[in-house]
Amino acid sequence: MTTFLSPATELQDKLTRRTAKIAVLGLGYVGTPLAVHLAQSGFSVTGFDPHEGKVHTVNGGRSPVQDVLDEDVYQLVEAERLGATSDARQLAGHDVFILCVPTPLDECKQPDVSYIERAAAVVVEHLRPGGLVVLESTTYPGTTDELLVPILERGGLIAEVDFFVAFSPERVDPGNARFNTGNIPKLVGGVGANSTLLATQLYRSFLAQVFPVSSARVAEMAKLHENTFRAINIGYVNELAVVCHTLGIDVWEVVDAAATKPFGFMPFYPGPGIGGHCIPLDPHYLAWRARKEGFVTRFINLADEVNSAMPGYVVSRLMALLNDHKRALRGSRVLVLGVTYKPDVDDARESPAMHVIHELERHGAEVRFVDPFVRELPQDHGPRAHATAATLCDETFAWTDVAVILTNHSSFDWADISARVPLLFDTRGATRGIGNDGTLL
Ligand SMILES: NC(=O)c1ccc[n+]([C@@H]2O[C@H](COP(=O)([O-])OP(=O)(O)OC[C@H]3O[C@@H](n4cnc5c(N)ncnc54)[C@H](O)[C@@H]3O)[C@@H](O)[C@H]2O)c1
Repeated sequence: MTTFLSPATELQDKLTRRTAKIAVLGLGYVGTPLAVHLAQSGFSVTGFDPHEGKVHTVNGGRSPVQDVLDEDVYQLVEAERLGATSDARQLAGHDVFILCVPTPLDECKQPDVSYIERAAAVVVEHLRPGGLVVLESTTYPGTTDELLVPILERGGLIAEVDFFVAFSPERVDPGNARFNTGNIPKLVGGVGANSTLLATQLYRSFLAQVFPVSSARVAEMAKLHENTFRAINIGYVNELAVVCHTLGIDVWEVVDAAATKPFGFMPFYPGPGIGGHCIPLDPHYLAWRARKEGFVTRFINLADEVNSAMPGYVVSRLMALLNDHKRALRGSRVLVLGVTYKPDVDDARESPAMHVIHELERHGAEVRFVDPFVRELPQDHGPRAHATAATLCDETFAWTDVAVILTNHSSFDWADISARVPLLFDTRGATRGIGNDGTLL
């Protein structure tokens, strides 16, 4: 007698035996390490990405992102555990689809979920009974239930009965040497109990700590809460930096002093503004969703206002520094040190440095930048900036009127640099304690 397994039991069995075929949609900073970890844990994984260059890179045994080693990709591709494609037809026969696609903002700072919609439209073509779809892209609460499920049900199957859907936020922190996709605790919230159970089982196959929550909405909101918490605290400490400067107090020493309290306080540091793909964007997803209910998120809006003003504040402080030395910003030669959005990553998109350079150029400064990770400023993101790349050589130091530290890369030798530039403005507290004459934010 043949026994028919329910779709959920069938998938459970495939996940246990690691015979489930997994498709990861989006081979970026989130999707690539995820695909590698799943393949390393024994699953057969296909990465799908319309960007043919990335597909080519992966299939050539190389990693398209900084935090994943080429050799890890190479071994998995050689063992035929990992492959990549831009051809959606290759997704036929897969059991699990994990969406790691971009969720940017449009020009009015409103959520752009069109990448999720397009990826879901690809998935629905290949979704079978017993399939599991997980959304990892950061988004507003309700996206999984209200946007993703209706698209997936267009194929005639019913979510939570025939197939399963969950949201599991990615918390990866590019450039973080201690925490990565493999050891960051994972939240999972399904559109129903079966979905939560199956998605939890999937992640437990390669992660030690998986925390199921009661719904996809809770998981979506938890991710937004984490990053909004950061954005607001950074906004507050940036405001504190401005106040401290006005009062003649060193904000860096103040933060360190407060951080000696062993409970009820965690340090955040000021800087030239916020950057990256998460902290400047995610709070707007929450603000937009709240606005739809007629609610104004005042903390989020205020933090955005303060953080967005920091590049302009940095430029005004540079002007004041030059003024103290009888110089104008117009015509001055400014050397920008570091342009990526945080130290030791290779990404200058969404970096406050782009805004600072744009402002400097708008005021007539001549700008060059030095960054070990960036040869050219991105032209398709944020404000236009024309500065050209330079290296830290005698010619560059001789050219410089004033240098400004925007990113504290670990490879910069601050003692050497500060001794060789005529004026230095440090927005990252990088030169503290090296006995230089630089000016701190
Ligand atoms: N980068 C981070 O630090 C980080 C951390 C946590 C969460 N997130 C979130 O994860 C999501 C992905 O971010 P990322 O940094 O990996 O972005 P990314 O830009 O590095 O990668 C996204 C990839 O998706 C591909 N893509 C676009 N449309 C597609 C489609 N229809 N189907 C399949 N692939 C498609 C793009 O070509 C790109 O390679 C975003 O929602 C982001 O907010 C990012």
